[in-house]
Amino acid sequence: MVRARTVLPSGSSARLNGICPYFTMFPLEFPYSVLSGRARPGDWVLDPFCGRGTTLFAARLLGLPALGVDSSPVAAAASEAKLVNVSPDSVVGTARRVLEEVQVPRDVPEGEFWELAYHPEVLRDLCRLREGLLMNCESDERKALRAILLGALHGPRPKHGDSYLSNQSPRTYAPKPGYAVRFWKARGLRPRPVDVIGLIATRADRYYAGCPPRVPGVVAMSDSRDPGVFERLARLGRVRWVVTSPPYYGLRTYLQDQWLRLWLLGGRPSVDYTVRGQLEHRSPDAFTEDLGRVWRNAAAVCMGGARLIVRFGAINDRRVNPLPLIEGSFRDTGWRVWKVCHAASAERGRRQALHFGRGNRRALEELDIWASLDA
Ligand SMILES: C[S@@+](CC[C@H](N)C(=O)[O-])C[C@H]1O[C@@H](n2cnc3c(N)ncnc32)[C@H](O)[C@@H]1O
Repeated sequence: MVRARTVLPSGSSARLNGICPYFTMFPLEFPYSVLSGRARPGDWVLDPFCGRGTTLFAARLLGLPALGVDSSPVAAAASEAKLVNVSPDSVVGTARRVLEEVQVPRDVPEGEFWELAYHPEVLRDLCRLREGLLMNCESDERKALRAILLGALHGPRPKHGDSYLSNQSPRTYAPKPGYAVRFWKARGLRPRPVDVIGLIATRADRYYAGCPPRVPGVVAMSDSRDPGVFERLARLGRVRWVVTSPPYYGLRTYLQDQWLRLWLLGGRPSVDYTVRGQLEHRSPDAFTEDLGRVWRNAAAVCMGGARLIVRFGAINDRRVNPLPLIEGSFRDTGWRVWKVCHAASAERGRRQALHFGRGNRRALEELDIWASLDA
């Protein structure tokens, strides 16, 4: 067994998990407590809906190799940064080099939103960094820098100091441009100049000083319904633990809610309303069928006796009972459900609902479902 205790390590080693906030992320305690004391050294861990990489980071804290898949480019970039090994100084040095490489950005978005969202010099530096990282984001340092920028791109503005690059904004999701402009104008909020390199240095130190040793791992930006991606991952190792949380039925705004971060990753400078790569939410049956495809793909890369632990719930916008949905999704997949418990009781009140960017309004009951693959 790797570890008997389920208390998260304190101090700097767990900070990296916070590098980029993500809408509907689950608390680190969930995957950590599932794996801690149960997983054996060398057990591979998989999250087929990895989001910002919470499960991958829990695996890293426990020294376990990890695989993640997510169809959102933001999720994949944040997850990749959970697996890299860098020093804070090397990330800052990389940021300076990228700024030297791109002296004059070719592409600076224009319009009222951009004028009010970022101070002109901050926007210029952001565009230089964006272009440099789009040309080359191969090294660990560049992946860490990209995730630091994603995390710092928008968020609340404290009275003193600078924590984020933007004017006052939410941090887990990007505001819609029209709403944001009205909000800033009504309050007379102008964007402040921010020391971009200084902010990168603070964040690099916070997230990468004292980071746990690296573990083998790969993140694939891909649709988990596609068996091909799992075939490629299977070459690395047979998986023993799948710890994940699929989108709750009806929640398919992952791309539009992250439109600013998607822009930083090369997307267009406006809201992206497409739902490409997201599970089907047009009916409970279509959703269950799609989810079943993912469980079958996961089973194909797992060893006999593997465990799959899923956190699943419902959102207020679509009042459906999550239990029959999730149970139905396991039909004919090879996985046998043997335990269902309330997430609240499993974690003494630390529910994923508490981490929803828009408060508790959108998430209802959450369940933890335990299933195993016959040996
Ligand atoms: C509930 S979130 C996962 C959050 C994650 N547990 C964390 O802590 O950050 C669900 C994720 O599933 C992803 N997703 C939705 N449909 C997908 C699909 N077909 N293939 C891969 N990922 C998908 C979304 O992009 C989103 O990141």
